[in-house]
Amino acid sequence: MVDLSGVVGDRLESVLAKARKLVENKELSKAALAYAQAAKLMKQYADSATSDIVKKKRLVDSEKLQSYADQLKKGHVPNMQDKASAASNDIDITLQEDDYLANARSLITQAKISWDEIAGLDDIKKFVMESYALSLAKLPDGVGLPKAANLLLYGPPGTGKTLIAAAVSKGLEATFFSCKVSDMLSKYFGESSRLIDAIFELATQMSPSVIFLDDFESIVPSRDSDSSGVERRVLTELLTCMDGFANKSSDHLVLVIAATNKPWLIDQAILSRFGKLAYVGLPDDNAREKIFELLLTKKGYKIRDSLRDFAKKTLNYSGREIEQISKELIRTMISKANPDLADIAVKGKKAVEQYMLKMSDITIDDLEALIEQMVPMTNQDDLTKYEQWNRR
Ligand SMILES: Nc1ncnc2c1ncn2[C@@H]1O[C@H](COP(=O)(O)OP(=O)(O)OP(=O)(O)O)[C@@H](O)[C@H]1O
Ligand SMILES: [Mg+2]
Repeated sequence: MVDLSGVVGDRLESVLAKARKLVENKELSKAALAYAQAAKLMKQYADSATSDIVKKKRLVDSEKLQSYADQLKKGHVPNMQDKASAASNDIDITLQEDDYLANARSLITQAKISWDEIAGLDDIKKFVMESYALSLAKLPDGVGLPKAANLLLYGPPGTGKTLIAAAVSKGLEATFFSCKVSDMLSKYFGESSRLIDAIFELATQMSPSVIFLDDFESIVPSRDSDSSGVERRVLTELLTCMDGFANKSSDHLVLVIAATNKPWLIDQAILSRFGKLAYVGLPDDNAREKIFELLLTKKGYKIRDSLRDFAKKTLNYSGREIEQISKELIRTMISKANPDLADIAVKGKKAVEQYMLKMSDITIDDLEALIEQMVPMTNQDDLTKYEQWNRR
Protein backbone atom coordinates (compact mmCIF):
# COMPACT_ATOMS: atom_id res chain seq x y z
CA MET A 1 0.00 0.00 0.00
CA VAL A 2 1.24 3.46 -0.86
CA ASP A 3 0.22 6.31 1.36
CA LEU A 4 -0.24 9.41 -0.72
CA SER A 5 -2.83 10.94 1.53
CA GLY A 6 -0.69 13.95 2.35
CA VAL A 7 -1.79 16.66 4.71
CA VAL A 8 -5.52 16.43 4.05
CA GLY A 9 -5.43 12.67 4.40
CA ASP A 10 -3.59 12.83 7.72
CA ARG A 11 -6.00 15.38 9.13
CA LEU A 12 -8.94 13.38 7.91
CA GLU A 13 -7.62 10.31 9.62
CA SER A 14 -7.19 12.06 12.96
CA VAL A 15 -10.59 13.79 12.76
CA LEU A 16 -12.26 10.46 12.00
CA ALA A 17 -10.49 8.79 14.92
CA LYS A 18 -11.69 11.58 17.18
CA ALA A 19 -15.23 11.33 15.85
CA ARG A 20 -15.37 7.58 16.46
CA LYS A 21 -14.10 8.06 20.02
CA LEU A 22 -16.77 10.71 20.69
CA VAL A 23 -19.49 8.35 19.49
CA GLU A 24 -18.15 5.62 21.76
CA ASN A 25 -18.28 8.07 24.66
CA LYS A 26 -21.82 9.05 23.68
CA GLU A 27 -20.87 12.70 23.19
CA LEU A 28 -23.19 12.92 20.24
CA SER A 29 -23.28 16.63 19.47
CA LYS A 30 -19.49 16.87 19.53
CA ALA A 31 -19.33 13.72 17.39
CA ALA A 32 -21.75 15.36 14.93
CA LEU A 33 -19.40 18.32 14.57
CA ALA A 34 -16.42 16.04 14.11
CA TYR A 35 -18.17 14.04 11.39
CA ALA A 36 -19.26 17.21 9.62
CA GLN A 37 -15.65 18.35 9.64
CA ALA A 38 -14.55 14.94 8.32
CA ALA A 39 -17.13 15.20 5.53
CA LYS A 40 -15.67 18.55 4.50
CA LEU A 41 -12.14 17.20 4.53
CA MET A 42 -13.19 14.17 2.52
CA LYS A 43 -14.61 16.53 -0.07
CA GLN A 44 -11.30 18.38 -0.30
CA TYR A 45 -9.62 15.04 -0.50
CA ALA A 46 -11.86 14.13 -3.42
CA ASP A 47 -10.67 17.23 -5.25
CA SER A 48 -7.10 16.01 -5.09
CA ALA A 49 -7.97 12.59 -6.51
CA THR A 50 -6.09 11.59 -9.62
CA SER A 51 -8.86 9.69 -11.34
CA ASP A 52 -12.60 9.95 -11.68
CA ILE A 53 -13.10 6.58 -10.06
CA VAL A 54 -11.21 7.55 -6.92
CA LYS A 55 -12.84 10.96 -6.88
CA LYS A 56 -16.33 9.50 -7.07
CA LYS A 57 -15.61 7.06 -4.28
CA ARG A 58 -14.38 9.86 -2.04
CA LEU A 59 -17.40 12.01 -2.80
CA VAL A 60 -19.67 9.13 -1.82
CA ASP A 61 -17.66 8.71 1.37
CA SER A 62 -18.01 12.41 2.05
CA GLU A 63 -21.79 12.17 1.74
CA LYS A 64 -21.84 9.20 4.07
CA LEU A 65 -19.88 11.13 6.66
CA GLN A 66 -22.24 14.08 6.36
CA SER A 67 -25.23 11.80 6.86
CA TYR A 68 -23.65 10.41 10.07
CA ALA A 69 -23.21 13.99 11.20
CA ASP A 70 -26.86 14.80 10.48
CA GLN A 71 -28.13 11.75 12.34
CA LEU A 72 -25.87 12.37 15.33
CA LYS A 73 -27.08 15.95 15.48
CA LYS A 74 -30.62 14.65 15.87
CA GLY A 75 -29.44 12.38 18.67
CA HIS A 76 -29.50 9.14 16.67
CA VAL A 77 -26.48 6.91 16.67
CA PRO A 78 -26.12 5.63 13.12
CA ASN A 79 -25.42 1.96 12.84
CA MET A 80 -21.84 2.15 11.65
CA GLN A 81 -21.24 -1.52 12.04
CA ASP A 82 -23.74 -2.22 9.32
CA LYS A 83 -21.52 -2.46 6.26
CA ALA A 84 -24.27 -1.89 3.77
CA SER A 85 -25.46 1.40 5.14
CA ALA A 86 -22.39 2.79 6.78
CA ALA A 87 -18.75 2.24 6.41
CA SER A 88 -16.90 4.85 8.36
CA ASN A 89 -14.34 2.33 9.48
CA ASP A 90 -13.93 1.17 5.94
CA ILE A 91 -13.47 4.60 4.50
CA ASP A 92 -10.00 4.22 3.28
CA ILE A 93 -8.03 7.36 3.02
CA THR A 94 -4.94 6.10 1.36
CA LEU A 95 -4.41 5.69 -2.33
CA GLN A 96 -3.79 2.02 -2.83
CA GLU A 97 -1.96 0.08 -5.48
CA ASP A 98 -5.36 -0.83 -6.86
CA ASP A 99 -6.14 2.82 -7.48
CA TYR A 100 -3.27 3.05 -9.92
CA LEU A 101 -4.56 -0.01 -11.70
CA ALA A 102 -8.01 1.57 -11.74
CA ASN A 103 -6.51 4.70 -13.27
CA ALA A 104 -4.69 2.61 -15.82
CA ARG A 105 -7.88 0.69 -16.54
CA SER A 106 -9.74 3.93 -17.17
CA LEU A 107 -7.38 4.58 -20.09
CA ILE A 108 -8.57 1.50 -21.94
CA THR A 109 -10.74 2.47 -24.86
CA GLN A 110 -12.54 0.53 -27.51
CA ALA A 111 -11.23 1.39 -30.94
CA LYS A 112 -13.83 1.51 -33.69
CA ILE A 113 -11.57 2.28 -36.63
CA SER A 114 -10.74 -0.48 -39.05
CA TRP A 115 -7.87 -0.59 -41.55
CA ASP A 116 -10.04 0.00 -44.58
CA GLU A 117 -11.16 3.31 -43.11
CA ILE A 118 -7.59 4.57 -43.39
CA ALA A 119 -6.40 5.81 -46.76
CA GLY A 120 -2.79 5.16 -47.78
CA LEU A 121 -0.05 4.48 -45.20
CA ASP A 122 0.31 0.92 -46.43
CA ASP A 123 3.87 0.29 -45.28
CA ILE A 124 2.98 1.24 -41.71
CA LYS A 125 0.01 -1.10 -41.79
CA LYS A 126 2.23 -3.89 -43.04
CA PHE A 127 4.87 -3.29 -40.39
CA VAL A 128 2.33 -3.50 -37.60
CA MET A 129 0.67 -6.61 -38.93
CA GLU A 130 4.03 -8.34 -39.20
CA SER A 131 4.97 -7.46 -35.62
CA TYR A 132 1.73 -8.96 -34.50
CA ALA A 133 2.13 -12.11 -36.54
CA LEU A 134 5.68 -12.52 -35.26
CA SER A 135 4.52 -12.47 -31.69
CA LEU A 136 1.84 -15.10 -32.17
CA ALA A 137 3.07 -17.48 -34.85
CA LYS A 138 4.70 -20.83 -34.02
CA LEU A 139 8.46 -20.96 -34.17
CA PRO A 140 10.67 -23.70 -35.61
CA ASP A 141 12.80 -25.35 -32.90
CA GLY A 142 15.92 -23.46 -31.90
CA VAL A 143 14.93 -20.22 -33.57
CA GLY A 144 14.99 -17.07 -31.47
CA LEU A 145 12.74 -14.18 -32.34
CA PRO A 146 13.43 -10.50 -32.58
CA LYS A 147 11.19 -8.65 -30.15
CA ALA A 148 8.21 -6.70 -31.35
CA ALA A 149 9.48 -3.24 -32.14
CA ASN A 150 7.92 -0.14 -30.65
CA LEU A 151 6.70 2.37 -33.13
CA LEU A 152 7.02 6.15 -33.22
CA LEU A 153 4.67 7.88 -35.65
CA TYR A 154 5.56 11.43 -36.54
CA GLY A 155 4.25 13.95 -39.00
CA PRO A 156 2.01 16.97 -39.50
CA PRO A 157 -1.31 17.29 -37.62
CA GLY A 158 -4.36 15.46 -38.90
CA THR A 159 -2.63 12.85 -41.01
CA GLY A 160 -3.90 9.67 -39.40
CA LYS A 161 -1.49 8.93 -36.54
CA THR A 162 -4.23 8.46 -33.97
CA LEU A 163 -6.26 6.54 -36.54
CA ILE A 164 -3.42 4.09 -37.10
CA ALA A 165 -2.98 3.40 -33.40
CA ALA A 166 -6.71 2.80 -33.05
CA ALA A 167 -6.84 0.53 -36.08
CA VAL A 168 -3.86 -1.43 -34.81
CA SER A 169 -5.65 -2.23 -31.62
CA LYS A 170 -8.87 -3.16 -33.38
CA GLY A 171 -7.11 -5.25 -36.01
CA LEU A 172 -5.09 -7.08 -33.39
CA GLU A 173 -8.05 -7.50 -31.07
CA ALA A 174 -5.77 -5.92 -28.53
CA THR A 175 -6.46 -3.99 -25.38
CA PHE A 176 -5.94 -0.37 -26.29
CA PHE A 177 -4.57 2.08 -23.72
CA SER A 178 -5.00 5.60 -24.97
CA CYS A 179 -2.68 7.93 -23.08
CA LYS A 180 -2.10 11.56 -23.77
CA VAL A 181 1.32 12.24 -22.31
CA SER A 182 0.62 15.93 -21.68
CA ASP A 183 -2.53 15.04 -19.69
CA MET A 184 -0.75 12.32 -17.82
CA LEU A 185 1.87 14.79 -16.66
CA SER A 186 -0.57 17.49 -15.63
CA LYS A 187 -3.39 15.40 -14.13
CA TYR A 188 -1.31 12.76 -12.46
CA PHE A 189 1.39 15.17 -11.45
CA GLY A 190 3.88 13.42 -9.19
CA GLU A 191 2.09 10.11 -9.54
CA SER A 192 2.58 9.70 -13.27
CA SER A 193 5.53 7.37 -13.02
CA ARG A 194 3.55 4.96 -10.83
CA LEU A 195 0.72 5.21 -13.31
CA ILE A 196 3.05 4.23 -16.14
CA ASP A 197 4.10 1.22 -14.14
CA ALA A 198 0.47 0.26 -13.63
CA ILE A 199 -0.33 0.71 -17.32
CA PHE A 200 2.46 -1.68 -18.33
CA GLU A 201 1.46 -4.16 -15.67
CA LEU A 202 -2.14 -4.16 -16.77
CA ALA A 203 -1.13 -4.26 -20.42
CA THR A 204 0.84 -7.44 -19.77
CA GLN A 205 -2.04 -9.02 -17.90
CA MET A 206 -4.40 -8.16 -20.73
CA SER A 207 -2.07 -8.79 -23.66
CA PRO A 208 -2.03 -8.49 -26.58
CA SER A 209 -2.08 -4.78 -25.78
CA VAL A 210 -1.26 -1.53 -27.47
CA ILE A 211 -0.13 1.42 -25.37
CA PHE A 212 -0.68 4.59 -27.35
CA LEU A 213 1.28 7.62 -26.15
CA ASP A 214 -0.06 10.71 -27.86
CA ASP A 215 1.72 14.10 -27.68
CA PHE A 216 4.83 12.12 -27.06
CA GLU A 217 7.18 15.12 -27.26
CA SER A 218 5.71 16.42 -23.96
CA ILE A 219 7.61 13.68 -22.19
CA VAL A 220 10.88 15.44 -22.85
CA PRO A 221 11.73 17.47 -19.77
CA SER A 222 11.80 21.16 -20.56
CA ARG A 223 15.08 22.46 -19.26
CA ASP A 224 13.83 25.65 -17.74
CA SER A 225 10.72 24.39 -15.99
CA ASP A 226 10.32 23.58 -12.30
CA SER A 227 8.41 20.44 -13.11
CA SER A 228 11.33 18.91 -14.95
CA GLY A 229 12.03 16.68 -11.94
CA VAL A 230 8.65 15.05 -12.36
CA GLU A 231 9.01 14.79 -16.11
CA ARG A 232 12.41 13.22 -15.78
CA ARG A 233 11.09 10.60 -13.36
CA VAL A 234 8.23 9.82 -15.73
CA LEU A 235 10.61 9.52 -18.63
CA THR A 236 12.97 7.24 -16.72
CA GLU A 237 10.07 5.06 -15.66
CA LEU A 238 8.75 4.84 -19.19
CA LEU A 239 12.12 3.91 -20.65
CA THR A 240 12.60 1.31 -17.93
CA CYS A 241 9.22 -0.20 -18.73
CA MET A 242 9.94 -0.21 -22.46
CA ASP A 243 13.38 -1.78 -21.92
CA GLY A 244 11.85 -4.30 -19.55
CA PHE A 245 9.58 -5.44 -22.29
CA ALA A 246 12.35 -5.73 -24.80
CA ASN A 247 14.01 -8.22 -22.50
CA LYS A 248 10.99 -10.29 -21.61
CA SER A 249 9.84 -13.25 -23.59
CA SER A 250 7.69 -12.20 -26.49
CA ASP A 251 4.60 -14.22 -25.74
CA HIS A 252 3.07 -11.10 -24.19
CA LEU A 253 2.63 -8.62 -26.98
CA VAL A 254 2.71 -5.13 -25.52
CA LEU A 255 3.25 -2.74 -28.36
CA VAL A 256 4.10 0.87 -27.59
CA ILE A 257 3.00 3.30 -30.27
CA ALA A 258 3.94 6.92 -29.71
CA ALA A 259 2.86 9.87 -31.83
CA THR A 260 4.22 13.38 -32.21
CA ASN A 261 4.13 16.44 -34.45
CA LYS A 262 7.55 17.56 -33.23
CA PRO A 263 10.01 14.69 -33.47
CA TRP A 264 12.98 17.10 -33.35
CA LEU A 265 12.24 17.76 -29.67
CA ILE A 266 12.93 14.14 -28.76
CA ASP A 267 16.51 13.24 -28.03
CA GLN A 268 18.48 10.31 -29.40
CA ALA A 269 18.42 8.22 -26.22
CA ILE A 270 14.65 8.13 -26.35
CA LEU A 271 14.42 7.66 -30.10
CA SER A 272 16.71 4.66 -29.89
CA ARG A 273 14.06 2.83 -27.85
CA PHE A 274 11.82 2.69 -30.89
CA GLY A 275 12.40 -0.09 -33.37
CA LYS A 276 10.68 1.87 -36.07
CA LEU A 277 10.22 5.56 -36.74
CA ALA A 278 7.51 6.05 -39.31
CA TYR A 279 6.75 9.27 -41.11
CA VAL A 280 3.05 9.87 -41.54
CA GLY A 281 2.95 12.56 -44.16
CA LEU A 282 0.19 14.51 -45.86
CA PRO A 283 -2.07 12.31 -48.00
CA ASP A 284 -1.06 11.99 -51.66
CA ASP A 285 -3.52 12.21 -54.58
CA ASN A 286 -4.69 8.62 -54.17
CA ALA A 287 -5.13 8.91 -50.43
CA ARG A 288 -7.07 12.16 -50.71
CA GLU A 289 -9.35 10.60 -53.28
CA LYS A 290 -9.92 7.66 -50.97
CA ILE A 291 -10.69 9.94 -48.00
CA PHE A 292 -13.27 11.86 -50.05
CA GLU A 293 -14.74 8.54 -51.12
CA LEU A 294 -14.95 7.34 -47.50
CA LEU A 295 -16.55 10.55 -46.30
CA LEU A 296 -18.83 11.36 -49.24
CA THR A 297 -19.74 8.68 -51.78
CA LYS A 298 -19.53 5.77 -49.32
CA LYS A 299 -21.89 7.72 -47.06
CA GLY A 300 -24.46 7.95 -49.83
CA TYR A 301 -23.76 11.46 -51.14
CA LYS A 302 -23.58 11.99 -54.89
CA ILE A 303 -20.75 13.82 -56.61
CA ARG A 304 -21.34 15.44 -59.98
CA ASP A 305 -17.66 15.57 -60.94
CA SER A 306 -14.99 12.94 -60.42
CA LEU A 307 -13.42 12.37 -57.02
CA ARG A 308 -10.09 12.40 -58.79
CA ASP A 309 -10.65 16.09 -59.51
CA PHE A 310 -11.59 16.67 -55.87
CA ALA A 311 -8.26 15.11 -54.91
CA LYS A 312 -6.30 17.19 -57.43
CA LYS A 313 -7.73 20.42 -56.02
CA THR A 314 -6.75 19.64 -52.45
CA LEU A 315 -2.98 19.31 -52.56
CA ASN A 316 -1.38 19.92 -49.13
CA TYR A 317 -4.60 19.52 -47.16
CA SER A 318 -4.38 16.99 -44.34
CA GLY A 319 -6.85 14.17 -43.76
CA ARG A 320 -8.43 16.15 -40.95
CA GLU A 321 -8.85 19.16 -43.24
CA ILE A 322 -10.42 16.96 -45.92
CA GLU A 323 -12.80 15.72 -43.27
CA GLN A 324 -13.73 19.32 -42.40
CA ILE A 325 -14.10 20.15 -46.09
CA SER A 326 -16.36 17.15 -46.65
CA LYS A 327 -18.62 18.08 -43.74
CA GLU A 328 -18.87 21.61 -45.03
CA LEU A 329 -19.64 20.39 -48.56
CA ILE A 330 -22.49 18.28 -47.24
CA ARG A 331 -23.83 21.17 -45.19
CA THR A 332 -23.70 23.55 -48.17
CA MET A 333 -25.37 21.04 -50.48
CA ILE A 334 -28.19 20.38 -48.00
CA SER A 335 -28.72 24.03 -47.35
CA LYS A 336 -28.91 24.74 -51.11
CA ALA A 337 -31.22 21.82 -51.83
CA ASN A 338 -33.54 22.68 -48.95
CA PRO A 339 -33.84 26.47 -48.93
CA ASP A 340 -37.01 26.31 -46.84
CA LEU A 341 -35.47 24.25 -44.02
CA ALA A 342 -35.05 27.13 -41.59
CA ASP A 343 -38.67 28.24 -42.07
CA ILE A 344 -39.90 24.75 -41.35
CA ALA A 345 -37.82 24.57 -38.20
CA VAL A 346 -39.63 27.65 -36.96
CA LYS A 347 -42.93 25.75 -37.24
CA GLY A 348 -41.80 23.31 -34.58
CA LYS A 349 -40.72 19.76 -34.02
CA LYS A 350 -43.70 18.04 -35.68
CA ALA A 351 -43.27 19.90 -38.94
CA VAL A 352 -39.57 19.09 -39.09
CA GLU A 353 -40.15 15.42 -38.38
CA GLN A 354 -42.48 15.16 -41.34
CA TYR A 355 -40.11 16.92 -43.68
CA MET A 356 -38.17 14.73 -46.11
CA LEU A 357 -34.72 16.18 -46.83
CA LYS A 358 -33.92 16.72 -50.48
CA MET A 359 -30.47 15.82 -51.76
CA SER A 360 -28.55 17.14 -54.73
CA ASP A 361 -25.09 16.53 -56.17
CA ILE A 362 -21.96 17.97 -54.64
CA THR A 363 -19.96 19.79 -57.27
CA ILE A 364 -16.39 20.83 -57.81
CA ASP A 365 -17.57 24.45 -57.80
CA ASP A 366 -18.74 23.97 -54.21
CA LEU A 367 -15.29 22.62 -53.39
CA GLU A 368 -13.48 25.47 -55.11
CA ALA A 369 -15.52 28.08 -53.30
CA LEU A 370 -14.75 26.40 -50.01
CA ILE A 371 -11.01 25.96 -50.33
CA GLU A 372 -10.59 29.51 -51.45
CA GLN A 373 -11.35 30.50 -47.87
CA MET A 374 -9.30 27.80 -46.27
CA VAL A 375 -5.51 27.69 -46.36
CA PRO A 376 -3.94 24.30 -45.53
CA MET A 377 -2.54 24.30 -42.02
CA THR A 378 0.74 22.64 -42.97
CA ASN A 379 2.88 24.82 -45.20
CA GLN A 380 6.00 24.20 -47.25
CA ASP A 381 8.33 25.27 -44.44
CA ASP A 382 6.78 22.71 -42.12
CA LEU A 383 7.16 19.99 -44.72
CA THR A 384 10.80 20.90 -45.29
CA LYS A 385 11.39 20.61 -41.56
CA TYR A 386 10.02 17.07 -41.51
CA GLU A 387 12.03 16.15 -44.60
CA GLN A 388 15.21 17.45 -43.04
CA TRP A 389 14.52 15.46 -39.94
CA ASN A 390 13.89 12.35 -42.06
CA ARG A 391 17.35 12.73 -43.55
CA ARG A 392 19.15 13.49 -40.29
N1 LIG B 1 -5.09 8.53 -43.89
C1 LIG B 1 -6.34 8.88 -43.53
N2 LIG B 1 -7.41 8.16 -43.96
C2 LIG B 1 -8.65 8.50 -43.60
N3 LIG B 1 -8.97 9.54 -42.82
C3 LIG B 1 -7.97 10.31 -42.36
C4 LIG B 1 -6.61 10.01 -42.68
N4 LIG B 1 -5.83 10.92 -42.07
C5 LIG B 1 -6.65 11.74 -41.41
N5 LIG B 1 -7.95 11.38 -41.57
C6 LIG B 1 -9.12 12.08 -41.00
O1 LIG B 1 -8.62 13.09 -40.16
C7 LIG B 1 -9.02 12.89 -38.81
C8 LIG B 1 -7.85 13.15 -37.90
O2 LIG B 1 -6.87 12.15 -38.00
P1 LIG B 1 -5.95 11.74 -36.78
O3 LIG B 1 -6.66 12.04 -35.51
O4 LIG B 1 -5.48 10.36 -36.96
O5 LIG B 1 -4.75 12.77 -36.98
P2 LIG B 1 -3.36 12.80 -36.21
O6 LIG B 1 -2.30 12.50 -37.20
O7 LIG B 1 -3.42 11.96 -35.00
O8 LIG B 1 -3.29 14.34 -35.87
P3 LIG B 1 -2.60 15.07 -34.61
O9 LIG B 1 -1.13 15.06 -34.89
O10 LIG B 1 -3.18 16.45 -34.68
O11 LIG B 1 -2.98 14.30 -33.40
C9 LIG B 1 -9.50 11.46 -38.74
O12 LIG B 1 -10.53 11.34 -37.80
C10 LIG B 1 -9.97 11.18 -40.16
O13 LIG B 1 -11.30 11.60 -40.33
MG1 LIG C 1 -3.60 12.46 -32.99
